[in-house]
Amino acid sequence: MKNKILVTGGAGYIGSHTCIALHEAGYEIVVYDNLSNSSREAINRVSTIIGQPLAFIEGDIRDAESLRQVFADHAFFGVIHFAGLKAVGESVAKPLLYYNNNVSGTITLLEVMMEHNVKNLIFSSSATVYGDPNTLPIDETAPRSCTNPYGQSKLAVEHILEDLSVTDKSWNLISLRYFNPVGAHPSGQIGEDPNDMPNNLMPYISQVAVGKLEKLSIFGNDYPTVDGTGVRDFIHVTDLAAGHVAALDYLKQLALCNNDAIGFLPINLGTGKGSSVLELVNAFADVTDQTVPYQFTDRRVGDIASCYASADKAKTLFGWQAKLSIIDMCKDTWRWQSMNPNGYRAP
Ligand code: NAD
Ligand code: WQD
Repeated sequence: MKNKILVTGGAGYIGSHTCIALHEAGYEIVVYDNLSNSSREAINRVSTIIGQPLAFIEGDIRDAESLRQVFADHAFFGVIHFAGLKAVGESVAKPLLYYNNNVSGTITLLEVMMEHNVKNLIFSSSATVYGDPNTLPIDETAPRSCTNPYGQSKLAVEHILEDLSVTDKSWNLISLRYFNPVGAHPSGQIGEDPNDMPNNLMPYISQVAVGKLEKLSIFGNDYPTVDGTGVRDFIHVTDLAAGHVAALDYLKQLALCNNDAIGFLPINLGTGKGSSVLELVNAFADVTDQTVPYQFTDRRVGDIASCYASADKAKTLFGWQAKLSIIDMCKDTWRWQSMNPNGYRAP
């Protein structure tokens, strides 16, 4: 059976870690990325870690001709589709860019997949599609709503995938809803490398600890949570990567048994456990023996108090569950940050 996977956005943070996990699980990989938020150095480092050159094609998912060539050159079992823009604030400033890149780009990819009869897709969705949840933990049946163009773009793609699965029963469309990915590969060679000022909590903490930023602002200490700060389901990026392999193995098994296609299948990838912002900051300081100066400021517009997953469906269907702790997440983030204070850029 075909074993080759197209990984769009495979040079990015989650994609690069997933490439390693896929390689270790015996999959052949072709990465397709326009490097709009990543660098060739990530590809080089993954190649070093896996001990062979990672097949890489520089290209844009909105470029149908380029994609057609890739599908003509390779016989894929399926596609893991990470390519997308992900900065919530930027999406508010540039909604058309986000809809064009994330929604139109995905439509183009699906069209080319259909032309080549490749109908196994794993899509990078997000817990952001749950908006402000009514109940915790959040399971996959929870109502969906979004308040910013980034989230809307993820929700729009989910609706497109659902519609497609109704019309054509031969698609397997898994939508993995990630909670809050953090951490880095234990080698310290790859990790999250924000282009600019970090938007997310963990890279901000680690850049404060390494001395690149002066102080963390904790957005709000008056939420109805354990200590007043926001609660999130932080998940180690290597656990997340393993979740993709588990999803792919599940699709392989279906194909081997000639089972009917599954249509649209949403799955949470989280640990099932919430930790507060302050708990994460304190754990990071403890584990790394660094000081992380912080101040409390106003709540960030659009933030919610608490968000954590029910991770039961992934366990039942894929036999997957997150293994790594907050301590592992902090240790591995710090190893990456302290070994690469400038990320993939030369010092
Ligand atoms: P990332 O920015 O590190 O990786 C995305 C990759 O896609 C980058 O390498 C970028 O160059 C590439 N890309 C973007 N637009 C492209 C296009 N038009 N054509 C080809 N390549 C393109 O982000 P990440 O954190 O690795 O996230 C991967 C996916 O997971 C994204 O779709 C993101 O929305 C989703 N997601 C991320 C998080 C998170 O917190 N990191 C949470 C939930 C969902
Ligand atoms: C986590 C907590 C902040 C920065 C975002 C996207 C979501 C998904 C994951 C892609 C919150 C607090 C943060 C800081 C802080 N991405 N915080 N100071 O907002 O849960 O989710 O990333 O799909 O769509 O919205 O993650 O890391 O930004 O924030 O106090 O400098 O940390 O208020 O409580 P968030 P985050």
